[in-house]
Amino acid sequence: MVRQRFSCYCILCVALGLALAWLLFVSPSSVHAQGVKGPISFINDVAPILQKNCFACHDAKKKKGKLEMTTYETFRKGGSKDDPISPGKSKESLLMDLLISKGKDRMPPLDAGDALKKEQIAIIAKWIDEGAKLDKGLDAKADLVRELRVRYVPPLPFVSYKFPALINALAFTPDGKRVVVGGNHELTIWEAQTGKLVRRVFTRAERAHAMAFLPDGKLVVAGGRPGQEGDVRIYNIDAGTPKMYGGVPAVDGVNDPVVMLKDLIQVEDSILALAISKDGKKIASGGTDRIVRVFDVATGKMEHAVENHADWILGVAFTPDGKGIVTASRDKTAKLWNLETKESMLTFPGHQNIVNNVAITPDGKFGLSAGEDGSIRSWQADDKAKSIGKQAKAMTGHSKAVFRLATSFGGKVPILASCGQDMTVRLWNPVSGAAIKSMTGLTDWVYAVALSNDGQFVAGGAANGEVRVWKTDGTAVSNFNATPGFVAPKVEVKKK
Ligand code: HEC
Repeated sequence: MVRQRFSCYCILCVALGLALAWLLFVSPSSVHAQGVKGPISFINDVAPILQKNCFACHDAKKKKGKLEMTTYETFRKGGSKDDPISPGKSKESLLMDLLISKGKDRMPPLDAGDALKKEQIAIIAKWIDEGAKLDKGLDAKADLVRELRVRYVPPLPFVSYKFPALINALAFTPDGKRVVVGGNHELTIWEAQTGKLVRRVFTRAERAHAMAFLPDGKLVVAGGRPGQEGDVRIYNIDAGTPKMYGGVPAVDGVNDPVVMLKDLIQVEDSILALAISKDGKKIASGGTDRIVRVFDVATGKMEHAVENHADWILGVAFTPDGKGIVTASRDKTAKLWNLETKESMLTFPGHQNIVNNVAITPDGKFGLSAGEDGSIRSWQADDKAKSIGKQAKAMTGHSKAVFRLATSFGGKVPILASCGQDMTVRLWNPVSGAAIKSMTGLTDWVYAVALSNDGQFVAGGAANGEVRVWKTDGTAVSNFNATPGFVAPKVEVKKK
């Protein structure tokens, strides 16, 4: 498979090489504006190039060379050397000099990456020659990152994937019959018993990082596009008018308002964690901006924004009474926040390494956290207890980092499930801390785990797209690669 892929690239390389040689031969090095069709739009054509290549150093925070490029106004105001643009005269513009410079002053700087591509430079040149205008209706003070986000149109997912889709999140439907998996710009829905793909739901988000069902059967998904946007949306995955896509019924969760019901927030980077309160009335989210947000499901309004961690939030869970939130963070701690008094109740530092996820026992007395240290730890979370924040138990068994936890308190006994880098899915009694089962068979890091509401089934999802479903007594139910159209390469068995 690998060899095949490489030979493919080779053909591509030769074709590209020929095309490039032809270009170089036919149109000698002039980068100024030839062959680019106008008129050029600043926001649609120029700003995306600047965002990708320049904003990292020229945003409001860094302002290298005193130049801030994230609004048209500040871009034109220039840095220590004034307006870098002479409208109508690309050849006299400082900006162009820096883009095509062969010297140390080139932008982006030599040590920060390659020069812009010829086509990109030609687009900027043409825009300057056309007068370096701002698009009609766009405010010169408008934040370009935000404007680009608003204008972003998500691509359709691959009809048939050439590579497996890494699984960051999965969930059982409330009846336990289907498994929803986060794909690339879509959610894919599979029969739990057979592994058959039964529906695809297109999404604006490139990735789903966490998902959970509301009591009414609607699905909440948190995710985003790394470094670009993060969102929390509520879907009705069974609604919409399906069209066949790669032989599978698909619905439009990007635009169709009967499928994508609510868009709770849009922020500038991925949302990584999600929780629903026991009564189903509140949703909590957390992510790279370190803010835990709590929303009211009925109104869609944000009720709390809590900043209590020094780094990304990787896990959130409500206390059973809905008055508190436990959180896990890359800052190596887990915490409990009281939503009523708006106070931080405890910090648990016991993992001494990144805390990847968090849960809480059904009685709300103990927090449960899992981390890069390979352990799951329970700690006193009862605010009336003297030992609040102190470790109660360490559940060991995973030989490497534990990535995710899932709980099901709907069956005869409460179950805690975990998954990790050691490619296993494990079941525990969250109260006693006893290990119940360890499931193997997945062949890559297991980033996602889910339990059915009734506690009968558990599923793990791996970095190579594999999903395995088991009964919680350990019996295997199904295994499949949750990547539409992807055919996993056959493992070559060496013959002696
Ligand atoms: C890795 C950081 C980095 C990136 C990426 C970067 N720049 Fe710069 N830029 C700088 C630094 C540092 C200076 C100041 C150089 C100096 O004063 O010697 C600068 C200066 C400039 C200036 C001159 C400002 C003035 O008035 O002095 C312009 C114009 C500029 N950059 C444009 C760009 C453009 C366009 C891009 C993207 C294609 C870009 N830069 C990408 C770091 C960066």
